Amino acid sequence: MKADISLLDLQNIPRHVAFIMDGNGRWAKNQGQHRLFGHAAGVESVKEVIKTARELGVSFLTMYAFSTENWSRPSEEVEGLMNLLVDAIANEVDEMHANGVRLHTIGDIQGLPGNCYQSLLSAMERTKDNTSLTLILALNYSARQEILKAAVVAHQLIEDGKLSAAELDEQTFSGLLHTKDIPDPELLIRTSGECRISNFLLWQLSYTELLFTDTHWPDFRRDAFIDAIAAFQKRERRFGMVSEQIQTNK
Ligand code: IPE
Ligand code: IPE
Ligand code: MG
Repeated sequence: MKADISLLDLQNIPRHVAFIMDGNGRWAKNQGQHRLFGHAAGVESVKEVIKTARELGVSFLTMYAFSTENWSRPSEEVEGLMNLLVDAIANEVDEMHANGVRLHTIGDIQGLPGNCYQSLLSAMERTKDNTSLTLILALNYSARQEILKAAVVAHQLIEDGKLSAAELDEQTFSGLLHTKDIPDPELLIRTSGECRISNFLLWQLSYTELLFTDTHWPDFRRDAFIDAIAAFQKRERRFGMVSEQIQTNK
């Protein structure tokens, strides 16, 4: 069935969609190409997903672009990924800005090569007042590190008398994460068939709908995104309640 935007319920578009963009390497290998060829093709998918998100009215997109574990890859792949990032920002920031896209990051971006860090900082500064869509790139990101750091900060605040242990509730703790001020994703999409979270947004995904598709990331384009939203809209999000309660709350 062809993806059709008119079949979507525009009142039920997720506000925040997160992506584990997986399968660039396998996609490239399938065509006898080098892994970096797949990563470059993946950038085109990112562009198309951003465009489609704007069309649908999604407000936040989080894209897992580089995990702390990805440093273990061969150095030429890591270098290639970093160069792609710098090039993509240089090539896309004007259009992003013109379209009202705000760039944001999560993860330890200071640990990235200097030129990546600088280009991210300047693109974030330039787009910081934009309001149509927030694009959050997860770079040098580890959910466990994020949670651990928040725990250390909470401990320090309590020790300094700036917070009492009783005040440390879920909301306060959320405010100590990289994702503070960003609502939790309603939908997580992982491409390329693996059914795991790979150290991504462990706190924030606690009630997110998870969608795993066999499509490799470079093939994940507008139609695939619309299909994923349609699948999301068929789900009943019960949050611990029973179906009848959800129906009457509607
Ligand atoms: C995802 O594609 C991109 C990054 C992790 C940067 P992969 O590079 O993981 O592709 P596969 O999983 O090896 O096919
Ligand atoms: C997860 O993909 C990280 C990113 C998409 C950036 P990986 O390909 O690195 O994950 P694993 O190794 O299959 O868990
Ligand atoms: Mg992978």
